[in-house]
Amino acid sequence: MNERTAEHRDRLDAHVFVCTNDRDGEHACCGDVGGEAVETAVKEWLRERDAFWTAVSVSTTSCLGLCSENGTAVTIQPQNEWYSDVSPEDVPRLLETAFGPDASLV
Ligand code: FES
Repeated sequence: MNERTAEHRDRLDAHVFVCTNDRDGEHACCGDVGGEAVETAVKEWLRERDAFWTAVSVSTTSCLGLCSENGTAVTIQPQNEWYSDVSPEDVPRLLETAFGPDASLV
């Protein structure tokens, strides 16, 4: 095991997790309501501002406990911000709120 906390803290200011969980059954899941499209929108927004993987990393994740039939769940860490019902169209406003219009807050 390698403990790499300090290295990662020095490199990254935030980590965006986008739920893309897919499940069979009656309960809503982000995989059925655009999770992958939200992930793509997040990465594009950050790339356009040269913030992708330099200041902000992005990962898909399993269920965040915010399941909805109206959109995807997203969390930003370590800021401890949580969103549900996110659509790709919501991503610019969400990320501008978190990081500023040009990602200068990261
Ligand atoms: S399936 Fe995405 S939050 Fe539960």
